[in-house]
Amino acid sequence: MSKKILIIDGHPDPDRGRLVHALADAYAKGAGLGGHQVRRLELATMDIPFLRSRADWTDGTPGPAILSAQEAIRWAEHILFFYPLWLGDVPALLKAFLEQVARPGFALSPGTMPKPMLKGRSARLVVTMGMPAFFYRFYFAAHSVKSFERNILKFVGIKPVEHTLIGNVEGDAETREKWLDTLLNLGMAAA
Ligand SMILES: Cc1cc2nc3c(=O)[nH]c(=O)nc-3n(C[C@H](O)[C@H](O)[C@H](O)COP(=O)(O)O)c2cc1C
Repeated sequence: MSKKILIIDGHPDPDRGRLVHALADAYAKGAGLGGHQVRRLELATMDIPFLRSRADWTDGTPGPAILSAQEAIRWAEHILFFYPLWLGDVPALLKAFLEQVARPGFALSPGTMPKPMLKGRSARLVVTMGMPAFFYRFYFAAHSVKSFERNILKFVGIKPVEHTLIGNVEGDAETREKWLDTLLNLGMAAA
């Protein structure tokens, strides 16, 4: 069955040589071959200011890029987040995007006991990193990925959330080809 898929490429660098962009392209290609509907957001090319106050978060009007991203998220049934691990976490640009987008009235009901407003959507995180993925998983307990999944995505109602951790990315071309193939297959399956 055809799914509505939103690919959010969270790499801050617009250089098309970045691995994250290639992985997002491979997923999009697979999703197209699988007959799914695909929309894409490239954070590196968007105007994403830092959120600086609670007043802005609750009562401010986000800029056109954020409003259009919210519309795409509302449209989607399955959301992909692609990003490189930077200082053990999402790059600041992706965090800024999440703070802008996940406002009361869109992601959460307003008030002191917020309720999730984005139910009915699933997600996958695809994270690249310099260290081996098993090291991040076991020594660092995949802390930032777990926090993203539980404290942001599940908190606003998006579940289930899966993840693909890709380590040793400064490795050889063969590994890169293997991961591009894996992402193509995930895209075909809308997984
Ligand atoms: C600012 C910065 C911080 C980084 N921090 C980490 C880190 O904490 N752990 C890690 O394993 N790799 C780290 N790396 C390596 C990146 O994760 C790696 O270069 C990236 O995943 C490669 O994908 P790309 O070609 O799409 O940029 C860092 C790289 C940069 C530029």
